[in-house]
Amino acid sequence: MNNILITGGAGFLGPMLAAKLLKDPSNSVVLTDLQTPPQPNGVADTANLERVASNLTMTGDIERLVLMRPKWRAVFIFHGIMSQGCEENPALSTKVNLEATQALLTAVSQHKSNDNQKPRIVYASTQAVYGPPYTTGGPITDDTPGTPVGVYGTHKLIMEAHINDLNRRGIIDAFSVRLPTVVVRPGAPSRSAAAFLSGMVREPMAGLECIVPIEDRAARQVICSPRVMIENFVRVMQAPSDAMPAHVRAVYMPGISVTVGDMYDAFVKVCGKDKLELLRTERDPEAERLLNSWPQTADFGNARRLGLGCDDTCVQIYQEYVDSLTELKL
Ligand SMILES: NC(=O)c1ccc[n+]([C@@H]2O[C@H](COP(=O)([O-])OP(=O)(O)OC[C@H]3O[C@@H](n4cnc5c(N)ncnc54)[C@H](O)[C@@H]3O)[C@@H](O)[C@H]2O)c1
Repeated sequence: MNNILITGGAGFLGPMLAAKLLKDPSNSVVLTDLQTPPQPNGVADTANLERVASNLTMTGDIERLVLMRPKWRAVFIFHGIMSQGCEENPALSTKVNLEATQALLTAVSQHKSNDNQKPRIVYASTQAVYGPPYTTGGPITDDTPGTPVGVYGTHKLIMEAHINDLNRRGIIDAFSVRLPTVVVRPGAPSRSAAAFLSGMVREPMAGLECIVPIEDRAARQVICSPRVMIENFVRVMQAPSDAMPAHVRAVYMPGISVTVGDMYDAFVKVCGKDKLELLRTERDPEAERLLNSWPQTADFGNARRLGLGCDDTCVQIYQEYVDSLTELKL
C-alpha cells in the first residue's frame, strides 16, 4: 500500500485530495486535523481511509501520527492559519505555520522505513510569498525573488527555505508548491484576504450577498480551480526528485490571470445577470493591500517543465463549481 498522510484534512483541499487519491486502490490515506475530519465527499469505500484528530502544535500528537504507518509514500502538509488570520495573530502563525510544520518535518525525517526510502513531502506554500515591486512590474518568473508583504507569506517563505535546506542535505525528499487562490471554495469563507474570490460565486448561488472588498475592476488575481490543483498535487507527488535542483524546491502552481471585471463577466455568463444584485462592493483597505501585493501574471516555467496543468478560463472555473452543486443535488 502507498500510505499517504494529509494534514489540514478537515479544510478545503485536504478532503478533495483524499477523494482523488482513494480512487486508486493501492493508496491508503490518513487524514488529520484539529478535530477528526468528516468523511470526504465522493468517498464511498472507506477501507483505505483513516481519519484522526491531532493538534500539530503538540509534539506527542505529531509522534503518534507519524508512527501510524511503518512507511509513508507521501506526506501532504496542508494545515495552517490563512492570510488574514496570520495578520491578526502572528504568534499563532508562528506556532502553527512555522513551529508545528518544522516539528512535523523533523518527525517524518526521523521515521525510517525498512528500505530507507524517504516519503515525498509536498508542502502547500502560497503565491503570497511574492510581493512588490515584482508583483506589479510584469509577470512572475522562476527567477522572481520572494518579497512577501504579510505574516502569512513571510512564514511560508521561511518554511520553504527550511525545506530547501533539508532537501539539499538529503534529510527529506520534498517540493514546496506555491498555490494561487483556489476558486471556488465550498462551505464557509476562509480567513483569507482572497475569500471573496470564491464568495462572489458561492454566496449568490446560495441566495446570499457577497461583499467585494475591491473597487478597481482592473485589479488582477491569479486563480485556479480545485480540480486542476488536485491533479497537480498528484503530479508533484509523482515527480522525480531531480526534476528541480536539490536546494530549489519551490514551484509556482499554474493559475490564470483574471481581472475583477473578468470575474463579473464570467459571473453573469454562469450565474445569471439577475444574481448581480447579490454582489456589493465595500472597500476593505487591509484586504485590498494584501490582494494588491500578490502576483497579477506569471509564466510558470518550472511548473510546465514538471508537467503541471492549467485551467482555461474563469467561465470554465465557475461553471465547474455550479455543475458540482447540481451533482450534489442529484
Ligand atoms: N485554498 C487556497 O486558495 C490556498 C491558496 C494558497 C495556499 N494555500 C495553502 O494550502 C493549504 C491548504 O489550504 P486549504 O484552503 O485547504 O486550508 P484550510 O484553511 O481550509 O485548512 C487548513 C486546516 O488546518 C487546520 N489546522 C490549523 N491549525 C492546526 C493545528 N494546530 N493542528 C492541526 N491542524 C490545524 C485547520 O483546522 C484547517 O482545517 C494551506 O496550508 C494554505 O496555506 C491554500
